[in-house]
Amino acid sequence: MIIALDGPAAAGKGTLAKRIAAHFGVPHLDTGALYRAVASRALRTGETPEAAAAAFRIGDMDAPDLRSGAVGAQASRVAAIPAVRAALLEFQQNFARRPGGAVLDGRDIGTVVCPWPETVKLFVTASPEARAKRRFNELLARGETPIYAAVFADLAERDRRDSQRADAPMKPAPDADVLDTSDLDPDEAFRMALGLISAKTRARG
Ligand code: C5P
Repeated sequence: MIIALDGPAAAGKGTLAKRIAAHFGVPHLDTGALYRAVASRALRTGETPEAAAAAFRIGDMDAPDLRSGAVGAQASRVAAIPAVRAALLEFQQNFARRPGGAVLDGRDIGTVVCPWPETVKLFVTASPEARAKRRFNELLARGETPIYAAVFADLAERDRRDSQRADAPMKPAPDADVLDTSDLDPDEAFRMALGLISAKTRARG
């Protein structure tokens, strides 16, 4: 079973993807980390994003700055370059096709990476305010001193770049179920997601 979780930053899809993968006993790929790794590598080595993507190695995902705000913002810029996306496609599709299945989360898994009818597709979203509040609290918990308005503006800018790019823009696949987590805690989101997944798999027999 291949499960695709797409949606904007801070909608809760990463946490959800990990729990769903553990529940079904299948591996999970955070595809945002691939774009972050390419951005981090390009910043570190001075390579072009295209060259960094072509030279991508799994170890690049261990870069210490992978989760920084600067690398996240740069990731959404390099992710708009078609050659970067093309260089990362096969790795993602091979991961998805492992025997036994996989969970992948990102922006274009249901539309471009695994658009196949057998993929179970969820589009996980939340209001901009709920997402900004979550990201703000995550940063506080990490010991940073975030400014709410800046966090909100950063997410809005990332949404704009991710949904308006020409190549693989973020959007729900036509056969995706939309899960809005604005008013759900992580346990409720997990239960709802499992319900949607089992309804989908039952309907397919
Ligand atoms: O999810 P995360 O914030 O780690 O992703 C970083 C960036 O990588 C996103 O803003 C997006 O531009 C890009 N991305 C993408 N396609 C994916 C996953 C992430 O374009 N499947």
